[in-house]
Parts: sequence; C-alpha cells; structure tokens
Amino acid sequence: MISGTKLRVAVLLSGSGTNLQAIINQVESNELDIDIVGIVSDNPDAFGLERARKAGLATIVVDYALFPNRKEYDAELENTLARLEPDLVVLAGYMRILATPVVNAYAGRMLNIHPSLLPAYPGLDTYRRALEAGEDWHGTTVHYVIPELDAGPAILQYRIRIGPDDTEDQLCERIQNGEYRIYSKVISWIAAGRLQLRDGKVVMDGSQIDTPLIEDEPQQSA
Ligand code: GRF
Repeated sequence: MISGTKLRVAVLLSGSGTNLQAIINQVESNELDIDIVGIVSDNPDAFGLERARKAGLATIVVDYALFPNRKEYDAELENTLARLEPDLVVLAGYMRILATPVVNAYAGRMLNIHPSLLPAYPGLDTYRRALEAGEDWHGTTVHYVIPELDAGPAILQYRIRIGPDDTEDQLCERIQNGEYRIYSKVISWIAAGRLQLRDGKVVMDGSQIDTPLIEDEPQQSA
C-alpha cells in the first residue's frame, strides 16, 4: 500500500453477502477507513451483488457456469482480481475452493471467515456438526488463507456458549452477529498497519501471536 492512501479491499462472495453488508455499513459510517475496490462473484444471482450495487460499488461476475473447465475459470478469476489491484482480498461467503496460484498471489493479503473455532470443524455444516457432537462452545474464525482449506493462520475468533436448547438457526444467527463485528475489526487492524503475516506467523502490534485472539459473545441480559 502506498503510504497515505487507503487500503484497497476486494471482496469475493457467492451468496447473500451479509458480511459484505456489515463491511459496507462500517465504511459508510466512517468506522472502517478502506476503499472497497470491487466485489467479485462466481454466482450471477448472489444477493451480495445487489447489496454492492446499492452501495455504488463495482461488481464483477466471473460466472463459473460459463467456463469450459476449472483451469480457465481460475485464470479469469485471478486476472479479474489482479485488475482491481487490491492490497487485501476478503472472502465473504465465497463457496469455491480457490486454486493454489490465486492463493499464493495474495499470500498474507487474503482473509477468510469460517464459522467454527478453527482448527475444529473445517468444511461445511459446522453448526449441525457442533450440535451433534455436544460441544459446549462454537464460534467463527477470521484467518489468513493458505491453499489448504480453512487451515491458514487464525487471527481472531468470536466464541459463543452453546445452550441446551440451541438450534442450528439460533447458532447461525448469534455467530453471524459476531462475524459482523470481528471481520471489520481485523480489516481495520490491517488498514492501520497493526497486523501482518510474517513467515507464516500472525504478528499483531509487533508481537507474534501463536493462538488466535478471542472475543466472547456479550452476556445476554435476562
Ligand atoms: C458466513 O457465515 C461465513 O462464516 C461463511 O459464509 C457465510 C457467508 O454469509 N464463510 P454471508 O454471505 O456473508 O451472508
């Protein structure tokens, strides 16, 4: 990033885009000082694209269905991102596994948010799996992206306690409310130059952190 300019952030999504909306809201209310340079989706029907247009942001669809094979899709996605010249790529509900060259092109400059307390429950259906396993805790993790799925260095987690009667939908709602807080927070740390990935390690305010920072759900008042 050129000093004195804002962090250029590209967002990659496939679906409803509520995390994108939270980021947009924080930019609009001046709580987050970044430039959102483009929203890229593999899915032309993603509602996140509507949210982006409404906010006056550039949208680009790289429609997976229109490519003859995975390789050509990956190449176009990489070119599309490169044209946006982002300092940071934010995955916000992007539902495909990224090809290794794209991930490597943004090493230390690509974030994901995954709805579990990683390394527990990588992959899909984390709410159901955590409930079925009888876990006491669940949550969501902001982490740097590496080629291995949901495995990159974790930065910040939002943690909730699972109650005896909790359903998947309730867990999802509570955890997503946390996502809207912690994703912007991590992006703001990067924008402020406080957070980096150095030699594969998360460095916050000059100190290496070997386990993610944790934010607990605020206590519900009775
Ligand atoms: C989020 O809950 C995130 O944990 C996961 O995908 C979901 C995307 O939701 N990676 P949205 O599209 O931001 O509403």
